[in-house]
Order: sequence, then structure tokens, then C-alpha cells
Amino acid sequence: MLIVNIIDILFYRAFLSKIYLTAGVDYRFLSPDAVQELAGLDPPADAVLVQDSYAGCDCRDLLGTIREVGRKAGRELPTLCLRPFEEGAHQEHHACQILGPEVIPVNRLTLAGVLAELKAAAQARQPVAGPRKILFVDAGRTLLHVVRAALTSSGFRVVSARNAEDALALCRRHAFELVLTSVLLPGMSGLELCRKLKEDNAGPYLPVVMLSSSDNALDMDTAFNYGADDYLLKSFTAEMLSKKVSEHLDIAERKRHNKILVVDDSKLTREMLRHNFVKNGHCVLTAENGAKALEIALAEQPDVVVTDIEMPEMDGYELCERLRKHPELRNTLVVIMSARGHASDIKRGERLGVSRYFVKPFDVEKMHLVVEQLLGESYRHIKKEHEHVLSSMSALITALEARDEYTKGHTARVSRMAMRLGRAMGLGERELRNLEIGSNLHDIGKIGVRDAVLLKPGRLSPEEYAVIQEHAVIGAEILRPIASLAPVLPLILLHHERWDGRGYPTAISGEDIPQGARIIAIADAFDAMTTDRPYRKGMPLTHALGVIRDEAGRQFCPICAEAFLAMLDGEAAAVSEDLADEPA
Ligand SMILES: [Fe+2]
Repeated sequence: MLIVNIIDILFYRAFLSKIYLTAGVDYRFLSPDAVQELAGLDPPADAVLVQDSYAGCDCRDLLGTIREVGRKAGRELPTLCLRPFEEGAHQEHHACQILGPEVIPVNRLTLAGVLAELKAAAQARQPVAGPRKILFVDAGRTLLHVVRAALTSSGFRVVSARNAEDALALCRRHAFELVLTSVLLPGMSGLELCRKLKEDNAGPYLPVVMLSSSDNALDMDTAFNYGADDYLLKSFTAEMLSKKVSEHLDIAERKRHNKILVVDDSKLTREMLRHNFVKNGHCVLTAENGAKALEIALAEQPDVVVTDIEMPEMDGYELCERLRKHPELRNTLVVIMSARGHASDIKRGERLGVSRYFVKPFDVEKMHLVVEQLLGESYRHIKKEHEHVLSSMSALITALEARDEYTKGHTARVSRMAMRLGRAMGLGERELRNLEIGSNLHDIGKIGVRDAVLLKPGRLSPEEYAVIQEHAVIGAEILRPIASLAPVLPLILLHHERWDGRGYPTAISGEDIPQGARIIAIADAFDAMTTDRPYRKGMPLTHALGVIRDEAGRQFCPICAEAFLAMLDGEAAAVSEDLADEPA
């Protein structure tokens, strides 16, 4: 849910940010004179909060704009009016009266409750997501058992078909994430099934993995020629299968988010390319000339622009120049397709940072492969940048730990233990990546806690403890501007929640706490218990494990605690060694 705040008092912003982060609500701040931007937000706002003090200005205009945005969205946009903190409970404030009865007055005591209701209403508008489905096609039942065991534990529902005809019928009725099919099937072969799925599928991109007992290179090539996305020998293990499936789902998700902008004044070329890219799972935008393309690029920020050169209004070279000059578009990948194939044209393209130059007529399939390759390279680059962000943040953690010698190595130990637990619990690749970042950055908010409290030897007073608790919210706030870290924020914000709901900062409980945060909570507590502090010695390992056992179902998630105890069972000696390796 997105709530937009028409507000300009800095103090209110900090106060609201904390409430929104705690409530798990996305938020944006707009200054009152930028209220028109409300209409162009993507995703659109689910609610608007206005600052009470705008009562003296043009509140009615403000409300008119908000109503207009709601009307365009086909529903009323709930509007909240933030009342002054010191206001009495019975006093109806001036602004709320001016704005009208449909405006919901809120203050610091009531805002969280109103948000919970709005969030539930926003969620109710979303389609209900069931378990993700994978179709397995094989005449026998032997492999089905292995496939179910491997994929059910990763949260998938495996639907099976014994032949290609049944599989095609199932694909028409259900949305599958992936199809796993044997090459040899009674009647229509798995290869033919794959070809039909790829050719006839009008819905989202559907990855197909072929299963075969043959490791003959020719058989593998044939499968790829029929459109298969991958080829797996039937001697696979559960681990291999689950890795392969998560790899393909990652690629499919990446493709869904990649935007390709096709620019050509020939409708035939635009449609031909659009069809090919869509068939392969990409999101495609089209424009008939450079000027339109620039407009679309500004609004949509495509990952790749595939453009012709000679077009009316603005040609491909000018489009490219304009893209390079725009601060947010200057790194957009550009591929040129043109009938002009002179060396001077190609050189001009090179100077404009064009990635590839195709001379018309060209092989559409080759164009698709080149664009996929460019997107893959760009993804790897983004991943590298992600790692760079992580290492920069780690440097901050090192700086934080340098303030307090007793916490030295804490982050690395927590991260290592959380990753071991995550792997032992069978987390997917993406969850593990998030867990790695989340556990490394879980205490980054302590940067914002003053020395007198952070470094105080001995027990903290209730006030000081409240200051320390702020670190979860501060950490999430510090990292919020980094878009790529969005999936990690809940892990940082909620790593001090308890299974029984007595934790902080939100006091949510049970499975409402993300699994990664529950894992970090155990790793964090285990490290805190086993490490020496200025006012106490670290607990012996067996004692700490006893606490985890006793607190399962109270402080800790019982499933994570059980997995943690099972993981360390019989490994006590190895763990002791592990801890002894850390710098003092
Ligand atoms: Fe913490």
C-alpha cells in the first residue's frame, strides 16, 4: 500500500516515516505545490495524508485534486488529515472541518489503527495469490515422488500429467510457473509438447525444462531447437532440481521486469519484433518515431531501446543523443536496426554508445538472442553493484563495530550463522541472498545511536533501552533510498520481533514476522549469549542452546529454533572452533 503525504514539516516527516515503516506501508512525501504529481504516480496512491496547517491555504483545491485523482482511478482515494499532536481528543480541528466529512482526522495515537484498516482494504483489492504451480509431465510415477519432495518444500504445488495432451489441457486452465516434461511420452512427445507450449502460449512466458536419460549432445540440441529453456538428466537429485527451477523462475521474473522499447516507423517491423520479444517473456513498448520514443523512455525508463535510424520527426541518432544527455536515461542500452549499413553509419552508432548495429533485413531470432545477452550482462552488472553496496555498508558496520570493541565480529558471526541456518532450512537462492544482506546490515541503525547509550557499560535504564530499540527503524530508514535493498528492509526492521508478539518495534507475532527476520533473531541472540560483554562472561555453548530450546515458541520461531538445534546437534565442537577463530 502506498500513502502519499502532502506535508512540508520535517519533524512530521520523521514521525510519519517511523509509523509507516513499522506498519509495513510504502510512502512518499510531496510538497503542497507538487500535489499534481499525485495523478502520475506508479504505483498509484492508495491514500493521501494532508498536513493540518494547510487549513489556512487552499485546502478545498487540494481536496479537489485528490478527488480528481481518485475519480480517474475509479475509486475514492481515502484522505487523512494529520492533527496537531497537542490537540485534545474532543476538539474538531479547523482543517478537518473545512475539508469535509469524508476526510479522516488522525493523530499520533490513531494513525496506526487507520493505516491497518486502509492496508487491509488495499490488500483486498489485490488478487489472492495461491501457491505457485509447476506442471510435471511423465508417464510413470517414480519421478513424481522425487519432484514433489524437492519442490513442495520450496513452496510450490506440483500438478502432474501423464501425457502431452493432458498437459496442454491443464495449461489452458491453469497458470503454471514452469513445465517439467520428459522427452519420451506416450503419444505426442515432450519435444512436440514444448513446441506447442512455446508457440501457442498467449499468456505469460512459460519456461520448459526437458527431462531425459540421454546425455547425447545431439538430443540436447534437438530439445533446445524445439524451444526448451533447459535440459536435465533424469539422474537429478532433489537439490539439483530445486536449484534449476529457482534459476528459471529468477530468469522469468527478470524478463517480466525488463522493458524493451521498439522504435520503427514501419508497423510491420514493430509488430514482428514485439511479437518475438513478448513470446520470450519480455515486456515490450513500441513507438513510431524518435520523439514518441523519448516521451515513452522518460515515463517508463526501458532497459533496452531497439531503434531504426530513418524516421519522421526525430531519427534514431538524435534519439540516441537525447538519451545520452538525460541523467536518468544516459545508461540505457541501445540497439540499432537500419537499412543503412555503411561503415560511417556504424561508426556514428559506436560514438553514441550503441551496443549492437543490425543491418536490415536481419534475423529476428538473432536480434532476440543479442538483446537477451545484453540484458543478461546488464543484470550481472546490477548484481555487481548490489555487492558493491553491500561492501560499502559492511565498511559502515566495521566503523560501527570499531566504536565498541565488545561487538567486534558480531555482524560477521551473525551473518555466518544465519546463512547456515537458512541453508539448513532449504531457503531458495533469492531468500538466501536477501538473508546474507539483511544479516550483514541488521544492526546498521546503531550508527544513529549516541555513544553514551551504545557504549554504556552495565544495564541500561528503560529510557536508554528505548533509545537502543530505535536502531531497527533507523537501519531500515538509512537503507530505504536504495531501491535494490527493498526486499531486505523488513529483515532489518523486524529482527528484534518475538514469536509471541512481545518484541519491537512493531510487536507483530508468529508467521507475520518474515522468515529471514526470525532466522536473524536466533543467530543474533545466540551470538549475544555466547560472547563476553563488559558486565558478564559469555554463556557456554550448551547453556545457550538450552535457552534457544526453552524459548522456542516464545522468543523464537519454533521451526527455526528446531532447525537451529538440529543443525548444531553434534557440531558443538565445530561451533566452538568457529567462535574461537574470531578476532578478540
Ligand atoms: Fe539489533
